[in-house]
Amino acid sequence: MTVRLSFASLIALALTTLPLHAEGDPEAGEKAFKKCRACHTVADGDRVIFKGGKAGPNLYGLIGRPAAGTDFRYSSAMQALGETGFVWDAENFTEFMQDPVGFVKTTLDDNGARTRMTQKLKAEDAADVAAWLASVGPAPTESGS
Ligand code: HEC
Repeated sequence: MTVRLSFASLIALALTTLPLHAEGDPEAGEKAFKKCRACHTVADGDRVIFKGGKAGPNLYGLIGRPAAGTDFRYSSAMQALGETGFVWDAENFTEFMQDPVGFVKTTLDDNGARTRMTQKLKAEDAADVAAWLASVGPAPTESGS
């Protein structure tokens, strides 16, 4: 399983820089992602990795990309987050997922900021989903933009 090994090492590489939590498990992350399928697809152009709904943005390559970084029609709150230069990594994703609405308010320091993304995950599941998204995304050496 050389493929799996190289995914694992990419994730390990991505996570070694993060002080806050243990490495996520990509396989568990793919399962946990079922909670997202109603609204999120993961697709690299025509290559669909996880087929879901389109009510939310494509999450392919999320880890390493700026907030509101696709052509999806984001809320002004999510766009404002992107304009601060915010880039998704496993750490801030895990924090965001525990309370997306609160996270955006706090990060923007704006109580009126309203993201339309409301689905929560427990920290452990979020770390797993981050690991899975990183494992199916472009290599971390490509600079997220
Ligand atoms: C009911 C629909 C819905 C569900 C379910 C949902 N999302 Fe979302 N998500 C959205 C919408 C809509 C946005 C855009 C939010 C905005 O513009 O404020 C979004 C945005 C996001 C973003 C920011 C993306 C970016 O490009 O910056 C992330 C990360 C995210 N969702 C992760 C998840 C994860 C992980 C799950 C599953 C645990 C999930 N979402 C479940 C609707 C959903």
